[in-house]
Amino acid sequence: MAKKVGYVCSACGHEESNWVGRCPACGEWGTLEETLKERAPAKAGARTAARRSRRLKDISSASSERWSTGYDELNRVLGGGLVRDSVTMLTAKPGAGKSTLLLQAAGRFASSGVRCLYASGEESEAQIKSRALRILPEESEELFLISTNSMDDVIEECRRLKPKVLFLDSVQTMALSEYAQRPGTPTQTVQVTASLVDLCKDANAPMAAFLIGHMTKGEEMAGLRTLEHLVDTVLYLDTGADDSIRMLRSTKNRFGRTGEMGLFQMEEEGLIEVTDPYALFLTKRQIPVPGAAVSLQQEGSRFIPIEVEALVSPATGAYPIRIGDSLKRDVLTTLVSILEQRAGQRLSDKDVVLKVTGGLSIFEKTCDLAVLAAIVSARCNRAISGGDVFLAEVGLTGELKHVHQLERRLVELDRLGFQRAFVAPEEKLPTLQGLKIVPCRTAADVFSVLFGGENRKKSIVATDAAITAEAGCVEAH
Ligand code: TYD
Ligand code: MG
Repeated sequence: MAKKVGYVCSACGHEESNWVGRCPACGEWGTLEETLKERAPAKAGARTAARRSRRLKDISSASSERWSTGYDELNRVLGGGLVRDSVTMLTAKPGAGKSTLLLQAAGRFASSGVRCLYASGEESEAQIKSRALRILPEESEELFLISTNSMDDVIEECRRLKPKVLFLDSVQTMALSEYAQRPGTPTQTVQVTASLVDLCKDANAPMAAFLIGHMTKGEEMAGLRTLEHLVDTVLYLDTGADDSIRMLRSTKNRFGRTGEMGLFQMEEEGLIEVTDPYALFLTKRQIPVPGAAVSLQQEGSRFIPIEVEALVSPATGAYPIRIGDSLKRDVLTTLVSILEQRAGQRLSDKDVVLKVTGGLSIFEKTCDLAVLAAIVSARCNRAISGGDVFLAEVGLTGELKHVHQLERRLVELDRLGFQRAFVAPEEKLPTLQGLKIVPCRTAADVFSVLFGGENRKKSIVATDAAITAEAGCVEAH
């Protein structure tokens, strides 16, 4: 059989027949690696062995059988549990807790009687055992370990033990003897993943698998993008800005929706599920402080509180500084401009620094109003009550705009004991027991209600200038 040398980009999987310094597809330098191309000879009788089509109604649904991982936070991200013959890739930066999460999941599966094989190419069996002793409540009969870099050994063990779930740590440390390349090369990572997919999808002995994929410092999957196409689900364990919080998200899911988030905290005894995000992301204060405002952001099927903290100080450099890791720089600049132009808040001579408690990112426009309120509160040195919450997008005109799922958010906030919600005017707003809903036409209206007199008539105003003049902390341009 003729063997031909080709080159594959380790960043994007692009193939070239000759070596080039820069990948023409993704533009990365020095990522092309040599690979052997072999063309499989046509098998005798291959056509007769080809698969036949079947009626849709005769095919059993793989997604109908799901197993609980023992962690609600992980189940939700997977779309309601682990599908019987699915392949899930988990990726994160080094030290995020990938091995910890998978060993804990293996422990829970095994404790519920599901046979698991944990194959590691990174740690010895003794190392895994000492970690297991620390983070697993028991040593289950159904949990098996193997420390190897040989994917052939792993496949052999799967055939012998017939586990229901295989954990592979990591795809970049495994190699198939059939290929001459080192572990971690494009050929090996693709072939190891493909062999794993074949193993799991075997209709006679279906098995689910989790595999860990390393991430480079540039936050790209080390190896090939192609892997993402081979697997059913891709999970990303995000470390956020806070040291201990871990956010698990799915970026691809053939068996459920993406956009769900699982929350964990890294503790001495491993990853602990966060069941009450409100306690984690809201600061409990006896007395409200200037510069803090709260909103509610949707993450998949649930809501997460966003507590925005702002610091406004006299600009020291030639240009005022706008820093806010939790939202895009141009979004922050736009919101600051809205405050200047539409709410009479001079900020051109002020530095503005923004943070979200717990290091969460703001990606919903629903939080616009809370960002503005936090900045105005900091600038005026006037605190906003801890019972106030802000749910509105703010347009370039300074007008408040409707947000998605407003009623559900309001009901949730009422349940949590918030007292006042600032929203855009709506035709129909719910009446809630404890939560007073304050519809306002513009952001300036909101500041007027907050800082410019308690009983001020809201909403319908002659001009923004009239409102801003009335607000407590307006500076003329
Ligand atoms: P690990 O799961 O090895 O990360 P990864 O596989 O993603 O590289 O976890 C590494 C970090 O987590 C390490 O810095 C120590 C910390 N850790 C804890 O804080 N508590 C624990 O119980 C465990 C197991 C790890
Ligand atoms: Mg690891």
